[in-house]
Amino acid sequence: MQGFPHRLEQRPTKAALIEALSSHLESKLRQRLASPGRCKPLGLATGRTMEPLYAALVQRLSAWDPTDLATLRAGWSSFNLDEYQGLPAADSRSYRRFMETHLGGPLQLPAPSLRLPDGTAEDGETAAEDYRMALQAAGGIGLQLLGLGSNGHVGFNEPPCGPRTRCRVVTLSGSTREQNAGMFGGDSATVPMRAITLGLDEILMAEDIHLVVTGASKAPVLHALLALEHPDDRLPASWLGSHRQVCLWADAEALQHP
Ligand code: GLP
Repeated sequence: MQGFPHRLEQRPTKAALIEALSSHLESKLRQRLASPGRCKPLGLATGRTMEPLYAALVQRLSAWDPTDLATLRAGWSSFNLDEYQGLPAADSRSYRRFMETHLGGPLQLPAPSLRLPDGTAEDGETAAEDYRMALQAAGGIGLQLLGLGSNGHVGFNEPPCGPRTRCRVVTLSGSTREQNAGMFGGDSATVPMRAITLGLDEILMAEDIHLVVTGASKAPVLHALLALEHPDDRLPASWLGSHRQVCLWADAEALQHP
């Protein structure tokens, strides 16, 4: 796509990429200290791509002056992209638990400020609408982190998906359940059938988007994404091309020709 991404940060290895991105995020978080209350919430993602990133970020932030860290904690506000439906929040495979394990716990963030859709609600569509309204009331997302699904999804916006889709309940595709089976003992049949996800509408309203893609397994989808001339519902991530401020962070394995 012409002009997509607006910025490409490529590094030879995943470790070098994580180092550079965690440093960028740390400096963004430091800037927030100067203007607490005026910054929009962070948009956070889960998944294997994010694990080393959160570990590196925790390491960096843990070295901060305790007063600065306390200020960061007190002003923390984040909205995650998505959550499985039907898993208890305490289930080790829920995204709520993922965030508590990788970020909330280590940084001692106040649990209510680390928000995710309520995958335990009986009425998922109402929970999705409530989440959308809560995000809107908080001013929408400032900096959005995104991983890339092997079928081109972002959040759980499965193909086909257009840019005007809102926070909602989605049915997960077979390929996504396969992709995420690792967290479920390798058995895709036990991956929940549905999830609540922010839509492309809310994602595209973020101020600043960082798409993070690492590893050879993502090379085919990244290649397809970069080869497209126009956004296409069959590759939901391609709608990021209509945003004015997207940075692609990719390692050499993900950028290699598949
Ligand atoms: C998952 C999640 C996304 C995640 C993406 C990539 O299904 N819903 O939020 O960013 O797919 O996952 P991974 O980083 O594990 O490859």
